[in-house]
Amino acid sequence: MFKIGNIEISSKALLAPMAGVTGHPFRLLCKDQGAGLVYTEFVSANGIIRENEKTLDLMKFTEAERPIGVQIFGESPEILAQSAKYIEDMVKPDLIDLNFGCPVPKVTKKGAGSAILKDLPLMDEVAQAVVEAVSIPVTAKIRSGWNHGCIVAPVAAAALQDAGIVALTLHPRTTKQLYTGEADWSLIAETRKAITIPLIGNGDIKSAEDAKRMMDETGCDAVMVGRRALGNPWIFREINQYLKNGTLPDAVRLLDRMKLCHRHLYMEVQAMGNFRGTNYIKKHLSWYLKGFPGASSYRQRLYTCMEFATMDHEINKIIDELENDDDLANFTYREDGPLFPNVPGSKDNY
Ligand SMILES: Cc1cc2nc3c(=O)[nH]c(=O)nc-3n(C[C@H](O)[C@H](O)[C@H](O)COP(=O)(O)O)c2cc1C
Repeated sequence: MFKIGNIEISSKALLAPMAGVTGHPFRLLCKDQGAGLVYTEFVSANGIIRENEKTLDLMKFTEAERPIGVQIFGESPEILAQSAKYIEDMVKPDLIDLNFGCPVPKVTKKGAGSAILKDLPLMDEVAQAVVEAVSIPVTAKIRSGWNHGCIVAPVAAAALQDAGIVALTLHPRTTKQLYTGEADWSLIAETRKAITIPLIGNGDIKSAEDAKRMMDETGCDAVMVGRRALGNPWIFREINQYLKNGTLPDAVRLLDRMKLCHRHLYMEVQAMGNFRGTNYIKKHLSWYLKGFPGASSYRQRLYTCMEFATMDHEINKIIDELENDDDLANFTYREDGPLFPNVPGSKDNY
């Protein structure tokens, strides 16, 4: 469908990196539903060099997730280059993505994430150093710029292309905006004209129709979906079909949503262990249950489960109840509400 460097990407709908969300289980579920490319959440280059165990854990993935990018952040060209080489040698992802878009103060005050958009020569140095350090493709993800007085996306994009970056993702909000206001898709169109490498548009895609509209209006080569995928990995299937023939697959039945929650629980427990996995899944459950008739009573039943065995039992009971109630089991809806401005419980409220 399209290529990043030498990597064939089978779908133009990509899963956004999301800290605290896009671990191995969720990436796999999105991949199953047709996401063309998935990424780890942003990983600290300093943590990698120090071989910090928790940092290294963030980079683990399975073969079924390929093609996959490991995203790194930092402020030092040398450390970013060293960490990229370490990743290439140790975990062998398909690509490395440079995070030039994180607006979280804890990251930007050190000069990393989107703070680098205030220092384009440094950004250039980082990109060149990382491209030279590895033989796999290097991509980057940027925001519009630091604030409305400093919109640099088209210029930064051209510089990154010259530095050897092979694809670019743009989330057209400034650092200062965080998630407020609207993503300015016209900046994606402007940036498209500044580069020839694949451009991935990102920001405020709420539906398959939005994905197509972004591609039509901006000329971007692919779209990246973040918040609309939360509790809704089916968005990728919808985008793929809609881009192909302008139709949408049937909306997912409540029973199938609940079965997927169950599967997701098992995957998280396998990845994190019984206690952590059971409690971590509650964040995803709150997203899956959005739109369920009587969501609050399901939430109450599930949130009180502190251990895998009780959560497993409760989900099985809910599945049984749905199987005995055709109307409820077959109830369908499509996610179409507003996107969360921010995601409670995410690491540092990225
Ligand atoms: C909870 C959360 C965590 C995020 N973590 C990352 C991250 O680790 N790396 C990154 O480049 N962007 C991160 N983002 C930004 C998303 O990748 C994406 O650019 C943003 O959500 C806009 O896309 P959307 O409107 O489709 O959500 C995060 C966003 C959210 C909501």
